[in-house]
Amino acid sequence: MSYLSALRVSLNEKLLQLEESLESNLPHLLDASPYSFLDDAEILPPKLVFDLLEKIRVDLKAVDSMITPTRFKLVEMGMLHYKCAALNTAVVLNVAQAIESFGGEAQLCDLAMKCDVNEHKLGRILRTLTGEFVFVECSPDRFKNSRHSIALLSPGARSFISFITDLGMKCANGIPGDMVNPDTKHSFSDRTAPFCKMVSKNDQTFAEYMGDPKNAEMVALGNEGIVGWLNGLTRASLINDYPWEALGDAKVIDLGCGMGDSGIDVLKKFPRLSWVYQDLPSVIDNLKENFPDQLQPRVRDGQISFVVQDYFQSNVSDGDVWYMRGVLHEYDDNEALEVLKHLAVAMRRTPNSIMIINEVLNCSPFILPETSIAPPSEHIPSDQSCLPSTGNTMTWSTFSLFGGKERSLEEYEGLLNSAGFTVSKLYRFRTFTVMLECVLSSQSK
Ligand SMILES: C[S@@+](CC[C@H](N)C(=O)[O-])C[C@H]1O[C@@H](n2cnc3c(N)ncnc32)[C@H](O)[C@@H]1O
Repeated sequence: MSYLSALRVSLNEKLLQLEESLESNLPHLLDASPYSFLDDAEILPPKLVFDLLEKIRVDLKAVDSMITPTRFKLVEMGMLHYKCAALNTAVVLNVAQAIESFGGEAQLCDLAMKCDVNEHKLGRILRTLTGEFVFVECSPDRFKNSRHSIALLSPGARSFISFITDLGMKCANGIPGDMVNPDTKHSFSDRTAPFCKMVSKNDQTFAEYMGDPKNAEMVALGNEGIVGWLNGLTRASLINDYPWEALGDAKVIDLGCGMGDSGIDVLKKFPRLSWVYQDLPSVIDNLKENFPDQLQPRVRDGQISFVVQDYFQSNVSDGDVWYMRGVLHEYDDNEALEVLKHLAVAMRRTPNSIMIINEVLNCSPFILPETSIAPPSEHIPSDQSCLPSTGNTMTWSTFSLFGGKERSLEEYEGLLNSAGFTVSKLYRFRTFTVMLECVLSSQSK
């Protein structure tokens, strides 16, 4: 069987399986409404469907790559930033809203008038996007929203696209230089991240830049876009794909809790848990001030508390579960080891305590043995995050903004073993992050 045939058969089988699994709730593409089964951030598809979707997408990419002439493949990839720019332009002009204001369909000339832009240029922006099924040209020069463009009515979605397009493109352009510059090539520090050269240009780190009152607009965009919208990519799986319920009334220590949103989500669903938020003083003050009213009674009865704690120092709290989201990836190995060693000391005070680490893993989208004619969907490694391509892109986005080192499972295991931990379980979330559950090696059975 040829490779093309193998892909055809694989896709046919998987699409049939998908149709059977979804029954009457089949996806749509062109209607200007979300397909809630996939587009509602609170709903997770069953694991079987989630895996099937990923496999189909991977095999479709293989077919696309197979039938695309190399020059076109490379040119299209090298010019992806124009697609980003088109999306951002549609966001800046709020074209989705403009279309809705005309009753759901609009002539190009009317849209151009409403957005106060040149009709010809707007047509080119829209057609760059209709090729991706973001907007639909339903008759010549007449446009409507699609399932994917209607989502741009959300202020959070627009904020994120605006935030990441400009910053992201500038920072991404700094990656090749970072990789070859002798001063930065082995650094994972926020001080040398591409952001410092390409955006702040005065060596201000991302955190320093965002703390500067003159960049308040950027901070607001980031908050609304990232916490308010992008986190929808991972929120449901954090709550549903880790067995929080089984922790009963455990006391969770949330190290480097930041804005505390992940703990807030978990606490709302699992009220028996106790939670200790730890971070640096200004972050803890901010969290206390903005903590949701709904959880205040549990603050008053001591079930939720706030502790100033530098995680590079001995930890003052005791707890059953030590939780870190997006902390270890901030650091190169030596610093990450330091944090972990302090935790190991603290955990020895509570027998059978565990540590849970929520991160993106560096992944292989697929590993294709030369002799195999099985489609790439059959060669996706299982001991890594799901959605490896999305995860890998996210790791570059965070690195180019604020440095940090994402790791593969193997790399985490090496680091954790040196600090006296054993990874006891890998929870693959229905998104691009995982939860690594760890115990002290001295207590592992
Ligand atoms: C990338 S953020 C992660 C925040 C949060 N865990 C989340 O997932 O949204 C890292 C957090 O670590 C905190 N942090 C940085 N250095 C720290 C230190 N030495 N001790 C404690 N927290 C620290 C920062 O203030 C920030 O809130």
